[in-house]
Amino acid sequence: MSSSPSGSTRPVRVGVIGLGAWGKNLLREFSRGIHSVVPIACDALPDARAKAAAQYPGLKVTDDVKQVLSSDVEAIVVSTPPASHFELASAALDHGKDVFVEKPLVLDLEQGGQLVEKARRNGRILMVGHIMEYHPAVEWLKKYIEDGGLGKVYYLYATRVNLGKLRDIENAMWSFAPHDISMISYLLGELPHRVAAVGQSYLRPGIEDVVFLTMWYNEKMMAHVHTSWLDPHKARSLTIVGQKQMAVFSDTDPAQRITIFDKGVDVTMDYNTYAEYLTLRTGEVHIPKVDNAEPLAVECRHFIDRIHDRKPPRSDGNDGLRVLRVLEAAQRSLQSGGTPVEVAFPDEEKKP
Ligand SMILES: NC(=O)c1ccc[n+]([C@@H]2O[C@H](COP(=O)([O-])OP(=O)(O)OC[C@H]3O[C@@H](n4cnc5c(N)ncnc54)[C@H](O)[C@@H]3O)[C@@H](O)[C@H]2O)c1
Repeated sequence: MSSSPSGSTRPVRVGVIGLGAWGKNLLREFSRGIHSVVPIACDALPDARAKAAAQYPGLKVTDDVKQVLSSDVEAIVVSTPPASHFELASAALDHGKDVFVEKPLVLDLEQGGQLVEKARRNGRILMVGHIMEYHPAVEWLKKYIEDGGLGKVYYLYATRVNLGKLRDIENAMWSFAPHDISMISYLLGELPHRVAAVGQSYLRPGIEDVVFLTMWYNEKMMAHVHTSWLDPHKARSLTIVGQKQMAVFSDTDPAQRITIFDKGVDVTMDYNTYAEYLTLRTGEVHIPKVDNAEPLAVECRHFIDRIHDRKPPRSDGNDGLRVLRVLEAAQRSLQSGGTPVEVAFPDEEKKP
């Protein structure tokens, strides 16, 4: 058994609420038994409970959230649809539990602020499931950017589309873009100061199936995020165009997660004429070896480690609020037909 940073080897007791498409993965990770165990899990649907009970003998399953809250677990994982995150996470904090909440933290910035404040007051860990911040390929790219490999980043664009699960309340941007907003902020260490979004609902009124979000940063840097659950492709990718090189991260291509293109435009001065010349450079293509660790496993271990050492998680409540602030501004833009909206972050949220 490996030890936590604090030296403790005790598996943390975790309760899981929500055993749907994603919650079952969290149940699997936290049930590994080395760093954590899951004695109790809850879902409103009999089918989800039956599947979990069949797979994990000894796991107590219930449809009653109160049984999880009043059990002896130290931490609670909330993986229900986002509209219920606030109530469930708030109740878990009231019961003195450390809390992991799936993304988006909540659907309302003010409620998000209340959760962060409650966690702070109660001395509890609050972590949001911004899984891309735990992705080894993102770590690799972050270091490459920080080491100057790409040169100054000019612009980025992310695509997160599929033909997939439709959500009842949150639109495609609220459902998917938390991954890209948190990933880009983490990668660049920068926050946008202006956002704009356009989108359209085709399948149900008022819930956009496709949203194109643009974010503006200092020094002319921009990022674009395309989210849709009504698309023929299954794509989760990020392209970063830098002054020196360009990078593509494709999360759906395990053999070639990151590709570095030594492509760019070099600016040279002709000192005889004092004219600037732009020269196209199409050099080598490099596919670096990236750690194969599963992002979900890294993320869950991070939560357990923070429970032991009581340090703020990388994707803590403030990180959740940063993403909500961008989403709320983008939603206002969306409703106005795409008018850019300024975003300002209070000091405590400023450091991505
Ligand atoms: N990190 C990721 O890559 C990722 C991927 C998919 C979903 N998610 C997030 O995970 C969360 C869950 O998404 P999902 O796709 O699993 O949804 P889902 O609809 O498949 O599952 C949600 C489950 O929660 C249960 N539930 C709802 N309210 C409940 C309550 N009050 N008490 C007990 N059970 C309740 C439902 O019965 C259902 O089984 C969402 O926040 C979503 O955004 C994250």
